Amino acid sequence: MRTDTGQIVHLADYRPTDFVLERVDLTFELDPTNTKVESRLIFHRREGVDASVPLVLDGDELTLSGLLLDQREVPASQYDETGESLTVRDLPAETPFELTITTFINPEANTQLMGLYRTNGIYCTQCEAEGFRRISYFPDRPDVLAPYTITIIGDKAANPVMLSNGNFLGGAGYDEGRAFAAWFDPHPKPSYLFALVAGDLGVVEDTFETMSGNEVTLKIYVEHGKEARAAYAMDALKRSMKWDEERFGREYDLNIFQIVAVSDFNMGAMENKGLNVFNDKYVLADPETATDQDYANIEAIIAHEYFHNWTGNRITCRDWFQLCLKEGLTVYRDHEFSADMRSRAVKRIAEVRHLKSEQFPDDAGPLAHPVRPTKYREINNFYTTTVYEKGSEVTRMIATLLGADHFKSGMDLYFERHDGQAVTVEDFVKCFEDATGRDLTQFSLWYHQAGTPLVTASGSYDQTNATFTLSLEQMIPATPAQPNKEPMHIPLSFALISDTGSIAAPAEVKGGEVTGDVLHLTTRNQIFTFSGISSRPVLSLNRSFSAPINLHFDQAPADLAHIARHDTDLFARWQALTDLAIGNLTQAARDVREGKAVTCDPVLTSALLEAAGDETLEPAFRAQALTLPSEADIARELGSNNDPDAIHAARQAVLTAIAKAGEETFLHLIGEMAISGPYLPDAASAGKRSLRNIALSYLTYAEETPARLAAAFADADNMTDMAQALTLLAHRFPDKAETSDALATFQARFDNNALVIDKWFSIQAMIPGAGALARIKALMDHPRFVANNPNRVRSLIGAFAFSNPTGFNRPDGEAYRFLAEQILAIDPKNPQLAARILTSMRSWRSLEPQRADHAHAALMTIERAPGLSADVRDIVERMLK
Ligand code: ARG
Ligand code: ZN
Repeated sequence: MRTDTGQIVHLADYRPTDFVLERVDLTFELDPTNTKVESRLIFHRREGVDASVPLVLDGDELTLSGLLLDQREVPASQYDETGESLTVRDLPAETPFELTITTFINPEANTQLMGLYRTNGIYCTQCEAEGFRRISYFPDRPDVLAPYTITIIGDKAANPVMLSNGNFLGGAGYDEGRAFAAWFDPHPKPSYLFALVAGDLGVVEDTFETMSGNEVTLKIYVEHGKEARAAYAMDALKRSMKWDEERFGREYDLNIFQIVAVSDFNMGAMENKGLNVFNDKYVLADPETATDQDYANIEAIIAHEYFHNWTGNRITCRDWFQLCLKEGLTVYRDHEFSADMRSRAVKRIAEVRHLKSEQFPDDAGPLAHPVRPTKYREINNFYTTTVYEKGSEVTRMIATLLGADHFKSGMDLYFERHDGQAVTVEDFVKCFEDATGRDLTQFSLWYHQAGTPLVTASGSYDQTNATFTLSLEQMIPATPAQPNKEPMHIPLSFALISDTGSIAAPAEVKGGEVTGDVLHLTTRNQIFTFSGISSRPVLSLNRSFSAPINLHFDQAPADLAHIARHDTDLFARWQALTDLAIGNLTQAARDVREGKAVTCDPVLTSALLEAAGDETLEPAFRAQALTLPSEADIARELGSNNDPDAIHAARQAVLTAIAKAGEETFLHLIGEMAISGPYLPDAASAGKRSLRNIALSYLTYAEETPARLAAAFADADNMTDMAQALTLLAHRFPDKAETSDALATFQARFDNNALVIDKWFSIQAMIPGAGALARIKALMDHPRFVANNPNRVRSLIGAFAFSNPTGFNRPDGEAYRFLAEQILAIDPKNPQLAARILTSMRSWRSLEPQRADHAHAALMTIERAPGLSADVRDIVERMLK
């Protein structure tokens, strides 16, 4: 493990390498505990670099056993090896030279799952961001690009499959017991995109014909016996390939594309050139074991990794500060893909829910950082929702500002100008400026200023002059190292809705730039005046979430209900319902704390029930409309001094009031949305199930016994319905026999399917209330709890810390102390996993003082522990600052 050295990397220190890497030739002799890696690297000194400058390569936990320069042994006096680098001196000034480095590594002992490791008998790699240096000494940075030739030698019987990047060159018997396989990737790539997989795997095959007629072999490798569960992933892959051709003009560029699903993986998936490696959670699905959400995730992540082939691989990042260049853009692309495959409005609602619940807290807390940061201590901690999701929103805003055609010209220019290069965010933005002539200087602040902008709006109508005036003010909150902010360029989509519900077209708009239905807010204060408005309009603002902001716009409940009823932008309708609900829920939380009775505004209830019963709306949208803001959403809205128990009680009370008022509607929906026939994972069917299940959940709030849920569990013929019924049973009736029976039935039935057992752990981890901690501890002793499997750890400990607000935030602080112990236990084995789970405490300062004190003490325990990884030290210190 790399323990912390306290070293900070600054963007300002970037400079190109002294040596240019021309070619890479790697030979692996696989052995579970002692794999030999021979690396032949051809370099030349960059023009103008002094002959005295040595070559410095990165390394981590390597055993060096040989070093040759142009085939001759390098004497000890000519190189230095530290734990983290290999420095070679006296290298040729003029001519290219070949360095041959032999190292030994131990894949079996690699518990941090970076570099080459073993999972269930399979050799597998993860190199992004800095994992390649755990395989061999190398200039391990994204701006060093070269073609790779790979030879893999391994035990014949144990490794019938031996894969790497690029096209297959050949393979055969190597000696008595061993076989070899050779691969060549002609596309110059950085080391973080290298991959190797070897072992005994099953495969599903298909083909795809590209737009210029090339036939590409598609292979998905899974554990034997799981082949049938890869069918949906394969279908999603083919749809992704087609979509990228049609929408972005991007064609695949090798004769084979391979995906491997493994069960031990630190993240979702990895876009290694031609050989994507996936957490099997995002590949495997069948109706019996996968939920609608699982199917949607698989579709999105298969697409995401495939789209990286152009946005990330063909054009990569100059340095890790530019991570959003590939991630934000690729998330934007996968969002657009899913929107085209499913319902655009429903997809947008899901994106915004996710952004608000995951990224907004990051941007409002001690871990806030710009989309394009300028310093880091551990790059693994910057694979954040800010880089990914806010990065995607910034790309979306460029499209909104420029319009679809101009956005396309900018993207075309980007692909044309930078193919084969490692570039920066500035290079990306410049393409849009050059393609359209628009100055994006102020807009670029979105990359550089952290924090969610707060826009305060107020409107007034002047009957005499038939004008509507909108005053806007923007404020960007202070964030770590950024106390003062400049005003940003904020695109706000708007509509003026007349009293009859139609969209009023103003005769003229003054006060700033307006393009189509977008107002450009560019100064701290700005007043827009709309003329020719014959009756008092209701303003719908930030439609489609055109900008990732917090909007304070004091609109009357009746106005919000008017938007919810009439806006032509479905997202804006949902947003209006959410705004109505959040006002009610925050008030309810305050009332609970003051010992007052909770009330539910009838305007809210009737708006929700109206949307729920509106058959002109698609079921998936109606389900979203009925899904109230989460407890975390309410906490964020309240901002400070939070009591999670009061928030929970308040939300339950509002849910119960709605349940009682809507009983008839919900009963009707349960009948109406029933599906007969076999399970299909398509968006329309999933929408029906989601509406039926949310109706079911409301009904249970009005009921005192688990009978209806026990029946729903028994009747379920697919995982979506079954997991939902089990969740409701467990969360609503944790101590009833029906619940323990259902949990036992579920476990017995799916005991051999790790992904379903993950759900079983998660459902229990999220049961609210002070009893949660004891339950978690008991589950950690369960024979199915596997402490070294990241999915299992996330599904129990992660789900508890991130998604069980009352259980985790128990007032005595016991759960914080528990988490601290767990972090310290996980850290030496898998620092990335430990650091990620620790971020669950990022909002500790917004808790009421007693809980905040306990949280602070637990964080201090971690901070004082000896031998922390760089990952955990970085997070804990930033959280305490
Ligand atoms: N690039 C991968 C993806 O698409 C994720 C890699 C995450 N790496 C890490 N060190 N956390 O999204
Ligand atoms: Zn990505």
